[in-house]
Amino acid sequence: MTRHLLTGTELDRDELGALLDRADALKAAPLSSRALEGRSVALIFEKHSTRTRLSFEAGIFELGGQPIVLRRDELHLARGESVGDTARVLSRHVAAIGLRTGPDALLEELAAASDVPVFNMLTAGHHPCQALADLMTLRAQFGRLEGLKLAYVGDGNNVARSLALVGAIAGVEVTVASPAGYALAGDSAHATLTDDPAEAVAGAHAVYADVWVSMGDEQTADARRSALAPFRIDDALLDRAAPGAIALHCLPAHPGEEITPEVLYGSRQRIWDQAENRRHAQKALLELLVR
Ligand code: CP
Ligand code: NVA
Repeated sequence: MTRHLLTGTELDRDELGALLDRADALKAAPLSSRALEGRSVALIFEKHSTRTRLSFEAGIFELGGQPIVLRRDELHLARGESVGDTARVLSRHVAAIGLRTGPDALLEELAAASDVPVFNMLTAGHHPCQALADLMTLRAQFGRLEGLKLAYVGDGNNVARSLALVGAIAGVEVTVASPAGYALAGDSAHATLTDDPAEAVAGAHAVYADVWVSMGDEQTADARRSALAPFRIDDALLDRAAPGAIALHCLPAHPGEEITPEVLYGSRQRIWDQAENRRHAQKALLELLVR
């Protein structure tokens, strides 16, 4: 069976723990693995990216492999070649395929036709690679994951869902605070939902922000900014969390919107470590997938 990572729920708790151990080891010794020696990995982007592209490209190089970045408009996919045929051809050339797209169904279709592992580099529904780096960051800060409380404050989106799903595997208790109309839908059994940011952050070890306007949501930007205005992460909200709580953000940030500059660049954030940890966590993931 070809292994894929479409939502992160493909991992059990032991595998996730081992992956995070490997990520720590690779952070300490970035050139210590040649898991992709002589092999290529395709990275298909149908949406913008700074961190995901950088961290995968640099990480694949560090593993001895070659990243091949493909934008949709460069592929025959954009001219009507099917997702399945694209997957079949890619499988003959590369060791794994990453995709950033909108519909989760498109990612699933690619995986179904691929003979090599497919991993999710962000869809409308999920962002599991982000959650892996977030758990690595949390574990580095607190020395454990089980029993930690994470409060996500904002739009109940792909990042919130992945934190809820992947956090649950690790035993992290995730609460998602969103205004009416923007609550996390679907997999909410894995998270506690509320519309009160203060209630969400009470006792939390980490308070997490994401953009109010995700890629693809631009047409509803004004309505989102007004509904989400009370869900900004500032020092006063962080003060309501557990002593020693940290602020997290997957980035890109809009200082003054979902997070204040004081928090984004302050002493309680671990946001820039989070951005770095994408590379280490994803290298550990690639090791697991191409094994
Ligand atoms: N956090 C994240 O995925 O960033 P990019 O959109 O820049 O890849
Ligand atoms: N929720 C955001 C995450 C960006 C990394 C989006 O989907 O645009």
